[in-house]
Amino acid sequence: MCGIMGYVGPQEATPILVDGLRRLEYRGYDSAGIAVANGSIDIRKAQGKIVNLETLLEVEPLAGSVGIGHTRWATHGVPSDKNAHPHSDPSGEFVVVHNGIIENFQSLKEGLIDKGAEFTSETDTEILAHLIAREYDGDIVEAVRRTVALSEGAYAMVVMTKREPGKIVAVRKISPLVVGLGDGETFLASDIPAVLHRTRDFIIIEDDEMVIVTADGATVETIDGSPVDREVIHIDWDSQQAEKGGYEHFMLKEINEQPAVITETLAGRLDEDGTVWLEDVSFDDDYVRDLDRVWITACGTAYHAGLIGQEIFRRVLRLPANVEYAHELRYADPIMSSNQLTIAISQSGETADTLAAARQAGEQGSRMLAITNVVGSTLARYADDILYTRAGPEISVASTKAYMAMLIAQYLLALRIGAVRGTVDPDLAAALSHGLHQMPGVIEEVLSREPQAIVAAEAIKDAQDVYFIGRGLDYAIAMEGSLKLKEISYLHSEAMPAGELKHGTLALITDGVPVVVILTQRAVYDKTISAVQEVKARGGRIIAVAYDTDTEIDKYADIVMRIPDVEDLLGPVAAVVPLQLLAYHVARMRDHDIDQPRNLAKSVTVE
Ligand code: F6R
Repeated sequence: MCGIMGYVGPQEATPILVDGLRRLEYRGYDSAGIAVANGSIDIRKAQGKIVNLETLLEVEPLAGSVGIGHTRWATHGVPSDKNAHPHSDPSGEFVVVHNGIIENFQSLKEGLIDKGAEFTSETDTEILAHLIAREYDGDIVEAVRRTVALSEGAYAMVVMTKREPGKIVAVRKISPLVVGLGDGETFLASDIPAVLHRTRDFIIIEDDEMVIVTADGATVETIDGSPVDREVIHIDWDSQQAEKGGYEHFMLKEINEQPAVITETLAGRLDEDGTVWLEDVSFDDDYVRDLDRVWITACGTAYHAGLIGQEIFRRVLRLPANVEYAHELRYADPIMSSNQLTIAISQSGETADTLAAARQAGEQGSRMLAITNVVGSTLARYADDILYTRAGPEISVASTKAYMAMLIAQYLLALRIGAVRGTVDPDLAAALSHGLHQMPGVIEEVLSREPQAIVAAEAIKDAQDVYFIGRGLDYAIAMEGSLKLKEISYLHSEAMPAGELKHGTLALITDGVPVVVILTQRAVYDKTISAVQEVKARGGRIIAVAYDTDTEIDKYADIVMRIPDVEDLLGPVAAVVPLQLLAYHVARMRDHDIDQPRNLAKSVTVE
């Protein structure tokens, strides 16, 4: 996720671009830059937050009334001045900013290198600038169109050339893009809030469309050149709503971003037959074949993601795997060796306990793979291999979209390791690949069923205690659902394997006590239903998360939150979303500070 801006009009572009980027900083903040046309095109860019760019612009200002800008969240290449956008072709006449991923960038880059091209950055974006310059024969729109035809992936890009002053061309392929229509001026941005204080009239660009922007307005076309008649919408959000993209809280916004996050995490990494490409994972096949154990270490929500990984490694790969809390593993004196892989999972890549456990694993000779959301984080710098989750910055303290991306990343890793070890049946690999590619649509559907979470939230909002149960992968989701609920609603909640209930906790189940049960694992369905019956017999209230086709649960449950049927191994990916929404709505009904719950911080950098 990155933020992009564009401006054409009578005013100085620099302050408008920088102000827009500030408002888009939530989409990425590891580097930022702008390009402004004034006869020639000049670029200023700086690593770090927008303030560094502003400091640079004080020393080296840019004048001109047409420009594009970018705030970055790295996917290809570490955060640095040279990898910051905008990027240009060698002549400096064509400049590009871009959000998303060019999946075939490696082959495009090799093709350009064969033709003598030299690159100044490690980004996929620079390739676009080279391609557009090569394709240009007097019409920037056609050059962009031809470049898009060569590039695979999910992205939005904005292009400007010295050869055609006063014009910006932009394309949307999945990543968001809007046009703001002013009086004699036109804006481009990744989202409406970036320019909402300048205009309230917008055109939303849709997938596979391009837009040609001048000071007089915008022309929308399909990528193939057919005209599009898009209605102008008038926005009347207040400024607080706007910052959150119209959502009441960042948490809800981030929950709703999950379909897009899955698309980004998968982009360019998974073929239909289940073949996986992981750009920063370099272990060789012999090492993978010789692996005798996988350790997964993490804290909190990341640990819960690891529980899913553990189950997948064991069940699908038949590879011994243990997930351990990082703060426990570091003092547990584990027996590790070079035939083992330690996977450290951390959204921030800065959690002190996770870093310590990762270092300890490294010192004991285990290879260390980081699954993290932050490019260049301490964990990423320390790791031998890195799998970036590409969820974009997460602002709400309660993690949702970063957790989702951690799940997807682990499915990819398991498929990659399983293929080398020959332990994943090709049909299963293809089914998982298909299921993962379908998942953004499945989650969209689950999100559209938000009202069922509101009904469930009404039922538990005044409870003293809430219990979450499930078996296998559903137990992992129960743990996450329980943590989400307690951290933002401040209700006491506990999760346990469904079979464990009768070994003690059942004593606490009395009339009306809510028990949330997750039922995506068909192989153990009947066993879980036994626990449900134990609860019912003591007067407990059952709130179930179940597949659409599960009619059995209607006999026992007071409330059912339905999800579309998916392959059992992917059930948890869909099932966690109603639980995130449940936690959100309970906290909202209890009038809590949802994005910043008491006593908690986004990044726990102390032991
Ligand atoms: C809960 C939550 C925390 C984090 C934990 C680890 O919603 O976000 O439990 O998951 O503090 O943080 P990272 O993933 O940054 O290592």
